Amino acid sequence: MMTIVTATTESLLPGDVKIVEVGPRDGLQNEATLIGAMDKIALIEQLADAGVSYVESGSFVSPKWVPQMATSTEVFNGIKRQQNVTYAALTPNLKGFEAAVAVNADEVAIFGAASESFSQKNINCSIDESLARFVPVIAAAKAQGLKVRGYVSCVVGCPYEGDIAPEQVAMVAKKLFDMGCYEISLGDTIGVGTPQSVKQMLAAVNQYVPINKLAVHFHDTYGQALTNIYTALNLGVSVVDCAVAGLGGCPYAKGASGNVATEDVVYLLNGLGINHGINFDKLLHAGWFISDKLGKAPISKVSNAMRAKLK
Ligand code: HMG
Ligand code: MG
Repeated sequence: MMTIVTATTESLLPGDVKIVEVGPRDGLQNEATLIGAMDKIALIEQLADAGVSYVESGSFVSPKWVPQMATSTEVFNGIKRQQNVTYAALTPNLKGFEAAVAVNADEVAIFGAASESFSQKNINCSIDESLARFVPVIAAAKAQGLKVRGYVSCVVGCPYEGDIAPEQVAMVAKKLFDMGCYEISLGDTIGVGTPQSVKQMLAAVNQYVPINKLAVHFHDTYGQALTNIYTALNLGVSVVDCAVAGLGGCPYAKGASGNVATEDVVYLLNGLGINHGINFDKLLHAGWFISDKLGKAPISKVSNAMRAKLK
């Protein structure tokens, strides 16, 4: 006899989602075309005008390692700031933190990895060494009253080691959380996750970090980002990192493509009736602005479909 399986209507879908826009940092750090400070500032201001409340606006890393971010001081100093917007910076060590403080970054993010090889390639030290480097950054941030966000890269797979065990991700996430990061952003750096692997990874991390302290950060290399976001939302995650126009990738993760496009995420959230506070039309224009500067079409089906409609 055939068994009828009925779909459950139960879901933990949140009523509100916070979009963390990483385009000006994660997006532009990996573009071959160097975007000048003035255009970065214009992009950040357009995103804020569109209602994005959190913009990762640059990073204070070695310019020898990531020349695209060498103008971050100029960028932070040039932004006309809106009161209700957080302008955040990525800082790998105390030197980077001090540079971020000098330009009045509202928040900083430290970035570790669940893979030893990726940690070495990306920040030139082991996972344990990176955690030791973050201790003084967190202490200094606390002393200045600045919040610290923590990233874990390679939460599903690593470009050098392949599959990464969920328990390994959970251990690094737990350490960053226990050290004082207010939120842990889980990065599928090379976009290899699928709903099953993402679910297993989130379950492992959630044993140590509450779900409302987790963010997801999916790169869309294999076209799985939206379905993975939907999976995470159904598990109660309500913070999603994305990049306008699907910009970017990580210079130390060969073949990794851009972050999931903010336009695609907003379209999904609109369809689900989830609040996000972003003006879709203004967001689209911000994406077209930076894509035109880069001389390429957005990596966003939604953005391209909407632009085609206007022609
Ligand atoms: P190192 O060479 O081991 O550092 O690099 P060091 O302490 O030995 O110093 C060497 C030189 O770098 C010195 O200068 C320092 O002053 C300078 P020199 O005396 O040779 O002229 N230096 C710095 N300069 C500017 N800002 C700094 C800084 N620190 C040292 N903060 C370091 C270590 C971490 C600096 C280097 O490996 C680096 O900059 N890495 C950055 C890599 C990066 O930005 N990757 C992309 C971001 S992570 C990402 O995209 C993943 C994420 O999106 C999540 C996901 O998708 O998974 C977050
Ligand atoms: Mg990233």
